[in-house]
Amino acid sequence: MIVAIDGPAGAGKSTVARELARRLGYQLVDTGAMYRTVAFESLRADIDLKDEEAVAEIAENLKFEFRFVDGENITFCNGEALQDEIRTAEVSRASSIISAHPKVRQVLVRQQRRVGRERSSVLEGRDIGTVVFPDAEVKVFITASSRVRARRRVEQMEEQGEEADFEEVLSEMVARDKRDSEREIAPLVKAEDALEIDSSDRDVDDILDELQDAISEQQDG
Ligand code: DC
Repeated sequence: MIVAIDGPAGAGKSTVARELARRLGYQLVDTGAMYRTVAFESLRADIDLKDEEAVAEIAENLKFEFRFVDGENITFCNGEALQDEIRTAEVSRASSIISAHPKVRQVLVRQQRRVGRERSSVLEGRDIGTVVFPDAEVKVFITASSRVRARRRVEQMEEQGEEADFEEVLSEMVARDKRDSEREIAPLVKAEDALEIDSSDRDVDDILDELQDAISEQQDG
């Protein structure tokens, strides 16, 4: 069983994907973490982020695994656990740049398909239902208004002790959405057959119940 969850940053996708994977006992493949890791390793190697070949070579040498540890989904890359270091603003910006390179996407998509087929999985990203697993049994596209998404992001930053300016976060989010949805390769779009969920005024449990019903229906049918 493959459950594909796509949507823009801050739509609540990660929370829904994590809780759903936990309820179902499925593996959770966080594809954003994979792009983030490639960005992080490219920055660390001090290579030009626009150098598609060099970034793709970095991606080729990374092997990913995902495991729940104490209820948190942890990304392991070449055996090492990655956490806060791939969540910085610098890595967010860099991941948006490197994820536009077709060769980088090709390398990561290949690995996403391999890891996803190992066992029942929830995959979370931008192009799971359209590109990575167009034949996924269940596809979900989660959205929320940009103001709601920016507010959530500000709260998250403040929790981490970072300073956050709402208007700045909002404009950066709008710019990132535009880049992600207008790029030529694997743009952020809803798959035609995806269930669309607007999380702006809904709580997580309510969304999870709806998704579990959709999955049961799929399993029964
Ligand atoms: O979901 P996230 O914020 O962790 O994603 C980080 C970046 O990677 C973001 O710029 C979008 C990009 N991404 C992508 O292009 N395709 C995916 N399947 C997942 C993430």
